[in-house]
Amino acid sequence: MASYYEQVGAATVREVVDQFYAVVLADPDLAPYFTDVDLPRLKRHMVMLLCSVLGGPEVYEGADLADAHRDMGITSEHYEKVGGMLVAALREKGADEELVQHVVTVLGQVRGSIVAQPAGAAG
Ligand code: HEM
Repeated sequence: MASYYEQVGAATVREVVDQFYAVVLADPDLAPYFTDVDLPRLKRHMVMLLCSVLGGPEVYEGADLADAHRDMGITSEHYEKVGGMLVAALREKGADEELVQHVVTVLGQVRGSIVAQPAGAAG
């Protein structure tokens, strides 16, 4: 069985990530989060992360996801929107449904690290 990574390849992952951030940054609700962000670095880290999630040999070298998103006040609504944009970019670049569902599962797993918790809430 080829891994998801072998099915799509690193070049497609890079295209997905480019497409994803083009859509995110074009959204007036989301763009303000990315003011002053080093986009080439962000994209590089997202490519590494997505490759490793898909079973590739890349090792994610970016910040821990909870640390990277701390104090941004990311709402559930914005999280769903961004996750939907990633899924849409994967589909647009030809990812099959099984791969998409794997990514959806991982998005569910990392959600708690990225969405801001109400003050005093555990986790
Ligand atoms: C949907 C799941 C998400 C994943 C997998 C994800 C992943 C990442 C990764 C890998 C980085 C790079 C960390 C680094 O360079 O060390 C990052 C940074 C960032 N993310 Fe996310 N992210 C997600 C959702 C969001 C959402 C919903 C927002 C805002 C609406 C957001 C805003 C940002 C910003 C502004 C940065 C840059 C932080 C900085 O460089 O200072 N992310 N994210």
